[in-house]
This record gives sequence, C-alpha cells and structure tokens, in this order.
Amino acid sequence: MGGRDERGEAGSASGGAGAGRSGPADAVTGAGAADGGEPAGGERSAYLLGSGDAELARLAFQHRAWAEAAYALWERAGFRRGATLLDLGCGPGFATVDLAHLVGPEGRVVAVDAAPRFLDHLRGLAAAHGLGWIDVRRADAAELDLPPASLDGAYARWLFCFLPDPGPALAAVARTLRPGGRLAVTDYFNYRAFTLAPRSAAFDRVVEAVAAAWRREGGDLEVQGRLPGLCRDHGLEPVDLRPVVRLARPGSPLWAWPETFFRGFLPGLVDAGLLTPDDADRFWHDWHARAADPAAYLSLPPMIDLVAEKR
Ligand SMILES: C[S@@+](CC[C@H](N)C(=O)[O-])C[C@H]1O[C@@H](n2cnc3c(N)ncnc32)[C@H](O)[C@@H]1O
Repeated sequence: MGGRDERGEAGSASGGAGAGRSGPADAVTGAGAADGGEPAGGERSAYLLGSGDAELARLAFQHRAWAEAAYALWERAGFRRGATLLDLGCGPGFATVDLAHLVGPEGRVVAVDAAPRFLDHLRGLAAAHGLGWIDVRRADAAELDLPPASLDGAYARWLFCFLPDPGPALAAVARTLRPGGRLAVTDYFNYRAFTLAPRSAAFDRVVEAVAAAWRREGGDLEVQGRLPGLCRDHGLEPVDLRPVVRLARPGSPLWAWPETFFRGFLPGLVDAGLLTPDDADRFWHDWHARAADPAAYLSLPPMIDLVAEKR
C-alpha cells in the first residue's frame, strides 16, 4: 500500500489498483465508467471509485445526506472552535469545509488525501469560501507526516474501509494527536444488513458482490468491527461507539444516494465477473418495483461512529 508511480500518484488507495495495473481491479473500478470522465491516460486516482466528475458529484450529495450525522459525531468528539483538526481521506473536501466553519479562523484544518483531483477541488472550495485556515496536503494516509502531538482532533469518514491495513494510518494519527486529543471515525460494519424491504434476493446478491469487490481491492466493508481493537493497540482508547442506522423511502432524497452508487458501480461488477448481466437485470427489476411501491423501504448500510481518545 502507498507506493507512488512516476507521476507521484499515491498508490493503492484501495489496496492494489495502482495506476497502470490491469485486470479485475480495473474492471471493478470501471476506469471512467463509474466516473463519467477520468482523463484517459492522465491522472488517475487509485481510489476504488475513481476521482472523476461523477464520483465528485456523488460525494457532494453523499455529504449532504450525511452532514447531520457528521456534525453530531464532531460534537460527541468534542471538536471545538479554535481547534487544530485533521480530515484524513478528505476527498473533495465537503466535510472539510464544514469542519473549517466549526473551528473558525482561530483554528486550522489539515486536509489530507491521496487523490490530486479531489485536493484541487478542495483548494477551489477553500478559496471560494475564504477559508484560508484549511491546509491541503497530498499524502497517503499511512505516510502522514505531521509534527507529533500537533492535533486536537482527527476525523476520517469512509477512509478505513479502503485501506488494506488500517494500522499504519492509525499509528500516524495516534502520533500526531496530543494527549486527550480525539479521533472520530465513521465507517462500515455489518454491510449485509443493507437490504430492500420487502427483501429481494437479487439485491442481496449485489450487496455480496460489492463486498467481494471491496475485498478484492484489499478493502473491507466490515472494517469498523476491527477499528476499536486496532485503536487500543495504538494508544487510542475508544470512548464512544454508536450505530447510525437509517431507512430510505422510495422517492425520498436519501433513496437516490445508493441508486447513484449502483448506477456507477454495477457495470464494473459485471465486467469483473462478480455479477452476471442477468443478476444486474434482476437487481434493476426489483429496484424499480420497490421504487414504485410506497410501502417499500431500503435499510441503508449501517455505519458505526467511533470516538477514540489519545492516552
Ligand atoms: C469515500 S471517499 C470519502 C471522502 C471524505 N472523507 C468524505 O467523507 O466525503 C474516500 C476517500 O479516501 C481517499 N483515500 C483512499 N485511500 C487513501 C489512502 N491510502 N491515503 C489517503 N487517502 C485515501 C480517497 O482518495 C477518497 O477521497
């Protein structure tokens, strides 16, 4: 994990789909199919979902849908005005901007990601909002190089599920937090609880295929089951753990969140041989049937929020 190619591209955000690599990983990533616009032969993030226009738009909407939960977690973590915070795996920076508003100009947010295109987007956001206290840095999470004990808090949402080994990133965060500083993490556990109601075997099959695609890339959609223990191994004591379980009704804005993901990701699952074209057709048949049924709902993948304190 974390190698860099000659363009300085941080490697293996998702555990192996480094630039130039071919094979199943590229098929899953879709190399543009999921993104609707990765520059061919140009800069390409190793992040499983790419860093094209479609993924950027998906992440923007995703942040809207999860912003309230994020804010509640930041409050539980004790993130305050004037604090110095890290947003690790910040992506295009939608949460970073909210964190910058939270700490205010007397604070600072260090935003770190491996994908250059996302970081350019964040620089644009910071400039547009006059948030000069956002410090944007490109690095692999495992190679975070900030002064020891320089942070009051750190935040990582949907980062650890992409890392083949969360240990080095946790060690780096632990080193960089001051004693009493807190790490707040939102990530997946019990992904198979992601289901349609009434149940659909075709939907459940796709959920299995998504989890398999993550594992193939070295990631883990069960990662939050392991993080509390890994935190303790690195001197970060879990002080708060809670589930965030949500339902989406057909036609609601939240219903569109997984739909966008499936539209981008399913073709790659078929190309990678993790689903057959018939599996995909059956999935969309059931999806549209539930979407037209006002009594149906979607039980979204459960998230677990973790707050761990540096001892
Ligand atoms: C699902 S996005 C989440 C972005 C942001 N945290 C949010 O909640 O909107 C995952 C992000 O993790 C980044 N990432 C994945 N592996 C990484 C690594 N090893 N080092 C740094 N960033 C990484 C990707 O580039 C991507 O921006």
